[in-house]
Amino acid sequence: MAEVTIRDVRKSYGAVEVLHGVGVDIEDGEFVVLVGPSGCGKSTLLRMIAGLEAISSGTIAIGERVVNNLPPSQRDIAMVFQNYALYPHKTVASNMAFALRMRGMEKSEIKARVGRAAEILGLTPYLDRYPRALSGGQRQRVAMGRAIVRDPQVFLFDEPLSNLDAKLRVQMRTEIRELHQRLKTTTVYVTHDQIEAMTMADKIVVMQNGHIEQIGSPLELYDRPANTFVASFIGSPSMNMLDGVLRRNGDGWTADVNGTSLPITAGEGVEEGRQVTVGIRPEKLSLADSGLEGKVSVVEPTGAETHVVVETGGGEIVAVFRERHQLRPGQPLHFMAAPDAIHLFDRATSARIG
Ligand SMILES: Nc1ncnc2c1ncn2[C@@H]1O[C@H](COP(=O)(O)OP(=O)(O)O)[C@@H](O)[C@H]1O
Ligand SMILES: [Mg+2]
Repeated sequence: MAEVTIRDVRKSYGAVEVLHGVGVDIEDGEFVVLVGPSGCGKSTLLRMIAGLEAISSGTIAIGERVVNNLPPSQRDIAMVFQNYALYPHKTVASNMAFALRMRGMEKSEIKARVGRAAEILGLTPYLDRYPRALSGGQRQRVAMGRAIVRDPQVFLFDEPLSNLDAKLRVQMRTEIRELHQRLKTTTVYVTHDQIEAMTMADKIVVMQNGHIEQIGSPLELYDRPANTFVASFIGSPSMNMLDGVLRRNGDGWTADVNGTSLPITAGEGVEEGRQVTVGIRPEKLSLADSGLEGKVSVVEPTGAETHVVVETGGGEIVAVFRERHQLRPGQPLHFMAAPDAIHLFDRATSARIG
């Protein structure tokens, strides 16, 4: 196992820079998820760790060793892709053994490693089958088996679950997590899916347009997003964002939103007249007699909870209730949120205040 240290890494394709100086410290044994919208540079960064893309500037180290100029085969990493491309004419056992055979490893050692990986992945009964006789989830497990048998210092995953149906995706994400708890191999996992990031990561790296927006544990990002991008990207449905102005109000402070004064907690950066974006998570809104005012436009029951879309003078907001309120489209409503549930962002820079 090993830590991975990424320092001021840049990547250009011709004249176009797609990664603009990225730094991440990945600890030994940590499960780190790179998450962000399509095209933000996740795969490029992962492929640079793997050695499949050259590094334009900066350094990447695995353990003590700077690997910038090492070929992939000498980096002691194993990568699992979305498109896992098993050899169709080889059995499950041969697919898993292939890289070890190429390395010239002893037959008995190969057999032991494949047997152990199959055991971990629940593939023992399928070792003699061909990929066509496996389900999508089983094939993805074989792809992980190929990585596990190599016993690498670092696992790299690039959207490995994107080809699976929704239910299997949920199941496989638990399996990968369990696998990590068992093997404790340093892992870098790329996804565009914030739920995958939240449920799997020890540490999340949120990226946008070749920049890192924030690094933190899932709940740190959820509770204290550094800017409106992270606030909107993490959490589903997304955090509601409304324009507001901060006002001193007697002994306390309010954020005034579309004619409603919402009490807020005083803190650093809270100043009279400051133009802000007020962020409130949908599950932090509760029905009240006064407060933010709007009209129900859509009611979406999911079973466990109900999503209610509300038109307000300041834009559309979404509330999530676990209780089963009887709400109809067109119905007028008022909402409140506790002061500590209100996030404030500078309107101009979009950075968190306080
Ligand atoms: N071989 C390449 N040549 C030119 N541009 C590329 C190449 N590979 C990726 N890019 C660009 O780099 C950016 C990041 O791509 P990528 O790392 O694949 O994003 P992600 O994995 O986050 O969806 C995108 O704008 C993409 O178009
Ligand atoms: Mg990608």
